[in-house]
Amino acid sequence: MTRTLITGGLVITAADEVHADVLIEHGRVVALAAPGTQEWTADRVIDASQKYVIPGGVDAHTHMELPFGGTFASDTFETGTRAAAWGGTTTIVDFAVQAKGHSLQAGLNAWMEKADGNCAIDYAFHMIMSDVNESTLKEMPKLIEHGISSFKLFMAYPGVFFSDDGQILRAMQVAGETGGLIMMHAENGIAIDVLVEQALARGETDPRYHGEVRKALLEAEATHRAIQLARVAGSPLYVVHVSAQEAVAELAAARDMGLPVFGETCPQYLFLSTDNLAEPDFEGAKYVCSTPLRPKEHQAALWRGLRTNDLQVVSTDHCPFCFVGQKELGRGDFSKIPNGLPGVENRMDLLHQAVVEGHITRRRWIEIACATPARMFGLYPQKGTIAPGADADVVIYDPHATQVLSAETHHMNVDYSAYEGKTVTGQVETVLSRGELVLDQRKYVGRVGHGTFVPRSTCQYLG
Ligand code: URP
Ligand code: ZN
Ligand code: ZN
Ligand code: ZN
Repeated sequence: MTRTLITGGLVITAADEVHADVLIEHGRVVALAAPGTQEWTADRVIDASQKYVIPGGVDAHTHMELPFGGTFASDTFETGTRAAAWGGTTTIVDFAVQAKGHSLQAGLNAWMEKADGNCAIDYAFHMIMSDVNESTLKEMPKLIEHGISSFKLFMAYPGVFFSDDGQILRAMQVAGETGGLIMMHAENGIAIDVLVEQALARGETDPRYHGEVRKALLEAEATHRAIQLARVAGSPLYVVHVSAQEAVAELAAARDMGLPVFGETCPQYLFLSTDNLAEPDFEGAKYVCSTPLRPKEHQAALWRGLRTNDLQVVSTDHCPFCFVGQKELGRGDFSKIPNGLPGVENRMDLLHQAVVEGHITRRRWIEIACATPARMFGLYPQKGTIAPGADADVVIYDPHATQVLSAETHHMNVDYSAYEGKTVTGQVETVLSRGELVLDQRKYVGRVGHGTFVPRSTCQYLG
């Protein structure tokens, strides 16, 4: 078993920034020491002088191979986890999907099969419940026992994933009793569908109308309603892909009352806007996701929420569809554009760019991208930090390198980049997953099937 020593780097965790040597053995971090003070021997020595040594990223929201909008997300577990590793992410939490009329377990089995033996990095699952009923409610505690401790419900997408308020309340009651965490897609889908129909009837078919009908107020309304339902049920709540400043205000108000309510946003809401959705020649389709991109003015509230801890996590909601052949399904009808953006490879870099630009500190970068997602979803301290006993999921990050984000150079299986041409400062140099090299000075040396399923405990962010 390889013994690895990482020397001379600045080790950054959510808690500390210290210059330290890091010793790795049997796939785990075993010790940190002041630089050069220990006579440790190792099979492999990585010189991290002038570099950051950070925990591998934990992306708690991805959709590899998701069947959606009449097609499938274009990254498989193989291509998507490889791209994640290139971008410094060493754990993903993907969403298994319950098919309507089938059990949660059947959905989980299907997703386990897709991922098994195909991943370059470790993975876990949340469960999407598209059919809350007596039988699926009974399954929830069993799934929690097996390491699936969070359940996504949808107030959007009527007829697809949608749950009504009664179903949501009942699932929240079970979650409250059993330690499960409800993740909410908070948009009033019933009202949005009315606005979609009216827009199309007026001939408003371009991608930008996707952003106009999915109103910020309908995100805020659903967020408010989800919070009240969670209060009534006595359960914690995690709102996914928050994009509207009005929704951030709802979360902040709930948290000011001391409620266990949490929020996630994504890089696309921090760096992109309705200007992208309005790009001509159907290019705006590349930016169709839900919740939608918002006018630029919303970004300040998201950054502030990340600083004040009204938002705790940045995940990608990675759900790529190629422009050619997939996004194009919605030419002439924006409601038929498959919803989702690629980004699993870009998250750590974009958030480092946010450090460079002064939106967040270095430690906050690691907190929102590594430590808190691990705590929120019961993976800590195995994942999300660098400490004795933690999995040696470690990234050597060069904060001085610059790179231009582009589909020409990215590793995601999608024919465009949402950040095409954007220059960022900082780049992943070397990646270890449980002590094994996945990326070695920007040479990919990972292995299909190295990544294993990680069962999760319940939310560790509550107490
Ligand atoms: O547009 C998105 N977000 N696609 C993925 C599905 C979801 O709602 O998270
Ligand atoms: Zn420096
Ligand atoms: Zn969603
Ligand atoms: Zn999603």
